[in-house]
Amino acid sequence: MMTDNPTSTPLCRLDELNDPGSKGILYQGLSLFAVRQGQQVFVYQNRCPHRGIPLEWTPDNFLDSSGRLIQCATHGALFLPESGECVSGPCSGEYLRQLACTVRDGQVWLE
Ligand code: FES
Repeated sequence: MMTDNPTSTPLCRLDELNDPGSKGILYQGLSLFAVRQGQQVFVYQNRCPHRGIPLEWTPDNFLDSSGRLIQCATHGALFLPESGECVSGPCSGEYLRQLACTVRDGQVWLE
């Protein structure tokens, strides 16, 4: 039987994320962000593989205008939400660092 670590805390509530949408999260000293696409949520380290700097345009704004791709504000690299692969821009073929997460009881948790 799985038991929860009583000290673990969720990253955020699912309903804090628009669909599609994104949110910056500071978690145990790590700068992360979550991206929602339908009922799926993906969590990444907030660090562009191009220059190693945060990606967002403005707080919680990690997506392009279509809401379907993650976009780095600095040089416009585009990343697939489900894998973090850069599909356009100066770091094409590189990946954001993804952290496994799960949605349970309306909350997003790291695995
Ligand atoms: S720092 Fe992200 S594309 Fe250059």
